[in-house]
Amino acid sequence: MLGHDGQAKLVDAQATRAGSSAECRGSPVEIRRPATSSRPAATTMSAGDDVQTPAGDRKVEGEALSTRPGDQERADYVMHLESLGALGSDAVRQAIAAVRRHRFLEAWYHMKIDEKQNSLSFVRHVFDRDHPTPEDLEEIYSNRALVTAVDGWLAKSSTSQPDLIAEMLTLLDARQGHSVLEIGTGTGYNAALLRELVGSDGKVCSIEIQEDVAALARRHLDDEGYPDVAVLARDAYRGAAEEAPFDRIVATVGCSDISPYWLNQLKPDGFMLLPLRHGLGDPLIRIERDPEDPNCGIGRVIGYASFMPIEGELRWRDPWGTSISTARGLLESPVRTYPLPESLVPPASGGVNLTETQRWRPFQFFLSLTAQLLRRQGIGFGIAESALKTVVLVSDAAVHGYSLDGHVRSLDNLHDRLVYLAEAWDDLGRPNPEDYVLRFVPRAEIPDLDTLPKRYWFVDRLQYLEIVELP
Ligand SMILES: C[S@@+](CC[C@H](N)C(=O)[O-])C[C@H]1O[C@@H](n2cnc3c(N)ncnc32)[C@H](O)[C@@H]1O
Repeated sequence: MLGHDGQAKLVDAQATRAGSSAECRGSPVEIRRPATSSRPAATTMSAGDDVQTPAGDRKVEGEALSTRPGDQERADYVMHLESLGALGSDAVRQAIAAVRRHRFLEAWYHMKIDEKQNSLSFVRHVFDRDHPTPEDLEEIYSNRALVTAVDGWLAKSSTSQPDLIAEMLTLLDARQGHSVLEIGTGTGYNAALLRELVGSDGKVCSIEIQEDVAALARRHLDDEGYPDVAVLARDAYRGAAEEAPFDRIVATVGCSDISPYWLNQLKPDGFMLLPLRHGLGDPLIRIERDPEDPNCGIGRVIGYASFMPIEGELRWRDPWGTSISTARGLLESPVRTYPLPESLVPPASGGVNLTETQRWRPFQFFLSLTAQLLRRQGIGFGIAESALKTVVLVSDAAVHGYSLDGHVRSLDNLHDRLVYLAEAWDDLGRPNPEDYVLRFVPRAEIPDLDTLPKRYWFVDRLQYLEIVELP
């Protein structure tokens, strides 16, 4: 994923940081579907492809080659995603092969970085989906997120990075006949993929908070032959009681919490897949209803993502202060550089093939449970003290200390705190995010202290208290 930081406030091309602009809620509106299906005629792909068409037909060897724009690029895109290992099942592969991503776009935005001004802006790129240029198709069928709505310098909607879409679909395991709720319709591309996965016996309902975005998705879904996907233009906080219960609920937006409505609208054996903010990222959490108390949820981290934050009722509260800017100039040059603590040095045999992001994930997740103000900035990530005038950042090689007032004592204290946390994490056996069990208890329910596990942490969310346990 594209990673950005600093003034631009972008986390990746599909995601923005908190502190976003005016909400666009409006009253609940169902974007109505036409009475008859407009599924396009079966299509063919280039010779040798074995790609399912939207109508579910397969190419017969020797059949006329398609002349439709984008078919070849889409076939190459599927192969590219395959080579990245992103297509975790045949069903996902077939769905991705069947849906024409370019038909869900009419424009997108390119980021323009002004280095002199140290600022970022978006430039709108208009796209004629009926007469796409080869350059446009190349961009659409690359592994890139495309921002499709902005507000100032904040991205407000996008089609997510395709390998992440594919990974999430694999983890979601939506099957033929399933009923699925999607939070964040955006372009409608993922809703179409979900519809391919659940088939005509299944049901897809997708909710989008921005009315104009929902209306465009509705039109594109109709044009591409998915009139039976329900698109609801409203805040997804209350879910969709009219379409419930669901086998699966998936959010394609960064969640600050779970909604009690989502939990209640799950079938007893269903689950949700949510990018749920924990400090510096949105790990993908699979959450089921607790069989012993259906008001509670039980979750595990099963993947990683970074999404634009949710709007509406669950609007981001950012308990880790990641969106609050540090004082100007603070992070320009370190006042002190400390050696990397032993507890953060990877074991000689470990971490050989890990990317920097993968290497630091376990400790970053631990920090989200144990530290209050987190930072990720250029050189690395770390913690800040409450006034945000002192920051320590971990890089691959060292710990860098920054202080606005040059207060070396407070810098040393903050560094000691970081080393303490690193040692605590090391003493626990350097747990991975996947090792914790996450229990979501409604805030109105006081957890019974006797039932708390031996090692636990709290994340205090809007609706739920998340009790994080290391079994
Ligand atoms: C990353 S985009 C979704 C991508 C989409 N699934 C696709 O296939 O193009 C996130 C979307 O979530 C929407 N969103 C944000 N908060 C929401 C809320 N509370 N309810 C419904 N949609 C929301 C945004 O307006 C945005 O369009």
